[in-house]
Amino acid sequence: MPFTARIEAAILRSIRAGQSGTPPPKLAAALEHAVMPGGARIRPQICMSVAAACGDDIPTMSEAAAASIELIHCASLVHDDLPCFDDADIRRGKPSVHKAFGEPLAVLTGDSLIIMGFETIARQMELDCARAGQLTLALARSTGMPYGICAGQGWESEPQVDLSAYHRAKTGALFVAASRMGAIAAGHDPEPWTELGARIGEAFQVADDLRDALYDEETLGKPVGQDEIHARPNAVSELGVQGAIRRLKDILGGAIASIPSCKGEAMLAEVVRRTAERLTPVAPNKAPAHPAE
Ligand code: IPE
Ligand code: IPE
Ligand code: MG
Ligand code: MG
Repeated sequence: MPFTARIEAAILRSIRAGQSGTPPPKLAAALEHAVMPGGARIRPQICMSVAAACGDDIPTMSEAAAASIELIHCASLVHDDLPCFDDADIRRGKPSVHKAFGEPLAVLTGDSLIIMGFETIARQMELDCARAGQLTLALARSTGMPYGICAGQGWESEPQVDLSAYHRAKTGALFVAASRMGAIAAGHDPEPWTELGARIGEAFQVADDLRDALYDEETLGKPVGQDEIHARPNAVSELGVQGAIRRLKDILGGAIASIPSCKGEAMLAEVVRRTAERLTPVAPNKAPAHPAE
């Protein structure tokens, strides 16, 4: 089965488990609204690709790892869109969760999805307790304090921002989790896989800055121009559009070079190349408001 189908099936299994019994109907519907249909599903794709390169000897373990990462990612988007954060009305081309269901249910949706992510891994304990434990730690490190998404979002409340710590925690951490968890799920040492995730995460941040500056809301399915509105330091204001595209390519070249030697090395290099193509903006719809070059 292709990765995409395995990822969607695993995510759906977790959501259905969360909707079973006699759940409060609106919260049950909000869970689905936040996760389905998905966006690019880039993090679970990376996780599954690394697991495959490492032999993927327990497929339900890699599926659980991939699903748990995407559930945490979706939770972070629900909370990020709330009025107390970015106050965004649309996400993935439809109303954000608080717009569709109200703020209390959006807070609970994010909370529930975070717990669902960890529960998804915990269910794998019966297959391999040690791997499930390592996966839990890797996911926790990328989600909470001091290195995870919570830390990343926390930087936005500081008067002085350490830009690389901010980006590493807000965006990079979940990509590092994706590559490390792919290796752990297949019973491999995660250490050699850290750099691949870190580099893809760095490239993703540059691509996200480019999309924010160049695309329109309809194309992206979420508010654009946010970096400029919130005066956030970003790759486009620092390097200009062409400079940022060059930087994106350089980082992804480094990502490919960092792939540890393994059976699936060539396949994984191809996945990173395809990811690079998907990430690089094409035919931008507008010029950035204040181009640096
Ligand atoms: C958006 O991530 C949030 C950031 C970390 C910048 P994605 O661009 O991966 O969002 P989806 O999942 O495809 O909607
Ligand atoms: C949101 O980050 C994703 C998190 C890591 C919490 P941003 O606010 O930068 O991204 P978008 O533009 O809303 O997707
Ligand atoms: Mg934000
Ligand atoms: Mg946002």
